[in-house]
This record gives sequence, C-alpha cells and structure tokens, in this order.
Amino acid sequence: MSVFKENTNTSAPKFSMASPVVANDLKVYMETYGCQMNVNDSEVVMSILEQQGFEYTTVMDDADLILVNTCSIRENAEQRVRGRLNVFRLMKRKKPSLLIGVIGCMAERLKEQLLEEQKMVDLVVGPDAYRDLPQLVQQAGSGRKAVNVLLSREETYSDISPVRYDSNGISAFVSIMRGCNNMCAYCVVPYTRGGERSRDAQTILREVRELVEMGYKEVTLLGQNVDSYHWTDTYTSDEISFSRLLALVAQVSPELRVRFSTSHPKDMTDEVLYTMAKYPNICKSIHLPAQSGSTRMLEMMKRGYTREWYLGRIEAIRRIIPECAITTDIIAGFCSETEEDHQDTLSLMREVGYEFAFMFKYSERPKTYAQRKYQDDIPEEVKTRRLQEIIDVQIELSAEAKKEKLGKTFEVLIEGASKKSDDQFVGRTSQNEVVVFPRGTYSIGQYVNVKVERCTSATLIGSII
Ligand code: 5AD
Ligand code: SF4
Repeated sequence: MSVFKENTNTSAPKFSMASPVVANDLKVYMETYGCQMNVNDSEVVMSILEQQGFEYTTVMDDADLILVNTCSIRENAEQRVRGRLNVFRLMKRKKPSLLIGVIGCMAERLKEQLLEEQKMVDLVVGPDAYRDLPQLVQQAGSGRKAVNVLLSREETYSDISPVRYDSNGISAFVSIMRGCNNMCAYCVVPYTRGGERSRDAQTILREVRELVEMGYKEVTLLGQNVDSYHWTDTYTSDEISFSRLLALVAQVSPELRVRFSTSHPKDMTDEVLYTMAKYPNICKSIHLPAQSGSTRMLEMMKRGYTREWYLGRIEAIRRIIPECAITTDIIAGFCSETEEDHQDTLSLMREVGYEFAFMFKYSERPKTYAQRKYQDDIPEEVKTRRLQEIIDVQIELSAEAKKEKLGKTFEVLIEGASKKSDDQFVGRTSQNEVVVFPRGTYSIGQYVNVKVERCTSATLIGSII
C-alpha cells in the first residue's frame, strides 16, 4: 500500500512533476555520518522534505521514512552504516510500509549496487539530487525502488534555507561551496561529491542574516577547500574571493562568531589571515590538514605542497595571528610510507605544536588515484603502530597547549549545559577550545569571560570573572 496521500487541498500550491505530493504527517527519522558538510546537507534535505509536508521525528519507531546520510571517506565509515542498515532491516520486517533511504556519499559511490547489496533499501540518492527526494520517496512508496545519483556542475542548494532540526540554536553550519577539484590521491570525495562549485555570495549573506535574526551567535562556513571559493556577482560583476566573503560575513554582526573549514595549505592566502586578524569576531582557529610531514609522501598524495611550504604557511599564521590555534588531519601508513617518512610526520607535528588533530590509518578507496596506481603495501600492524605513535605525540601536544592556558582569561560563547552537570555550562573560546564553568546567572548564547583554573586532556575548566 502506498503511504502517500494525494494532494487534494485545492488551496495548496500546484506541484510540478518534480514535486507531485504533499506527504501530510509522514514522519522522517534521519541519521547523519561523516563530515560537517553532511550535517548541513541533512538540514537541506529536511528543508526540502518539510516543504512537501514531511515531519521530522527523533523517534525511530515512529518513522515512515528512515534516511541515512552516509560517508565513504574510509572503509570503516561505510561498515558503520552497513551495521545500522541491519538494524533498520529488522524494523522493516515488523513494519513493511517503512521506507529506507541511503543518501550522501555512499549512495553516490555504490549507486544501484547498493540496492543489490542491501535488499531492504528503497531509495538511493546522491548529494546533488536532494531536490528530487520528494518524488523519489513517492516512487519508492508505490513499490518501485528509486535511484538518483546524478552529479551536477551547478547545484549548491543556494535558495534553500536549511532546517536546523538538531541545533543548539547558537551555532549553525553554512555551506559556501560544494564538491572538490583537488584530486588528492587517497580521497574519494571528488567522486562522491563531484566538481567544485561556489555558492552565490548574496544567498550566503542572506542565510547568515536570517540566522542572526533567529538569535544564532556563531556560523561555520563550510567547503572542502574554502580558499578556492570564488563568486562573480551577477549584478555588479564584483569578484568575491574567500577573504572578501569572510569579511562580508563578519560585518553582518559584531556579535556573531565566524568560523570556517577546511583550509588547504596550497591555497590559503595571507589575505585570509589579514582578514582574520582584522575582525575580532572571526575566530582565531585554523584547521589546516597536513596529512603527512614527508615531502615525498605529500607528492605521492598529490597535495600540491612540500613540507617546507606547509611550514611557511604556519609561519605566516603565527606572524599575522599570533594567538591562532592550529589543528590538522594526519594519515598514517599511506602507500610506500617508510619509517623515515613517518618520523617526518612526527617531527612536523612537534614543530607546529597542533592544538588538536584528527588522525587516521590510510584506507584504500575504490577509483582513487592511489587505488589505481599504488600498492596499499603498509601492513595493518605497521599502520596501527604508526597511528598510535602519532596519537601519542598529539596527546602530549594537546596537553601542553592546555597547560599554557592555565591562569589566563578567555571570552567564551555559552553553548549549553555541560554533559556531566546541569550546574555547569559548556562553551568554546575563539580558539575553539571547550571550556566548562559554573553557570552563575548567565544564559546560553551569551559571551562571558572565563578564567581557566584547571584542565583535563580535552577540556579547560574555569570560572566566570
Ligand atoms: N584514508 C584515510 N584517511 C583519509 N582521509 C581522506 N581520505 C582518506 C583515506 N582514504 C582523511 C584526510 C582528510 C580527512 C577528512 O580524512 O586526513 O583530511
Ligand atoms: Fe564528508 Fe568526505 Fe565523508 Fe563525503 S566522504 S561525507 S565529503 S567526509
């Protein structure tokens, strides 16, 4: 039986063929894996579905439609999703009308193959096909499996206001571009998210203004490589670079914190750094993935920079924004990595003194340059050992960075109650460090000055002054 109701409401707008349904009361449960971009995509998806009458639910058992927004970056990210799909399969046995959709990067990578592999999946929708979701859900509801994995050169969902369904009401992600043109040898993203395209700057600014009006206090501008953002204004022919966009967003409100991710070492300009230094509300924190400290590895990874170039960028950050926190991503055990290459990574980490790092074992991904041209020849136990050594160095570096903060005072944006105690607030410094402190008479969304008194490995602890 179809779970859809015909649109019999004559006062409702007429729907085009692309959106022929009003799904009154159909409940959607959504799980999101992977990066911040995926979190924001799920919000775009909810917006598209809500416009068609779907309703978001946090209760899995109430759902008529379950969507899993997936990640393909490493093999284990896909395995986790397969595990979840097994759980949904059991639910569907009990409730056959339940529809299950796989969206995002894994949908794009596996396409129809996913329907063969996972028999209970009803729809497979890639990152550029979300506008088609209402129609595809309807098709799946009438018993025909639905797939749309077309990638687009233009789609940026620029006109869609994401529904912040899982937000703290304080911080929001704003996507400024989609896709990636970098073709790093290990990376599946260009295949799952397609080529790079920038979003209309006016729509970004409009979204930020709306967020400010709604009481949001922090936006994070998202792109795979924000430094290559570029938009030519249709009316004024103005060229808008990332540094210009950053300044425009910062000017929306001095009360609004502005963050961004991710920067690429080969493209990050001094202009961006000067813009960060100029506006107090642009947070002093840069995520600058190094991936490796060995120039030979970086070349094989097709990163487009050497160790020396990377250190030159770090020097520029330190010179222009001395108080800036620097974080990174590191891959252990990439193809042919020697002990010496690995030592280069450890020494780079110490030289930079990262505040924080995301650290991974190399995972070969189908279709990538590395999979086609190189041998994944580092034994698993060597990858594991090298990753552990990388983690151990980072633990030391993070502890040192935390200790340096003891006794100092930072402006903190209050984001919510601490997980451990309702009497405590949790917030972050401009440098993106988590701080826990007694709540006093303040409320969520306010800025307070907090003096750091103690720290754990992940958190600063202090009190409001
Ligand atoms: N294996 C391991 N880590 C990877 N990353 C990207 N592709 C792979 C892969 N195949 C890491 C990189 C990137 C982060 C998002 O994920 O460090 O910056
Ligand atoms: Fe994000 Fe990359 Fe994972 Fe896609 S594959 S969800 S772009 S991290």
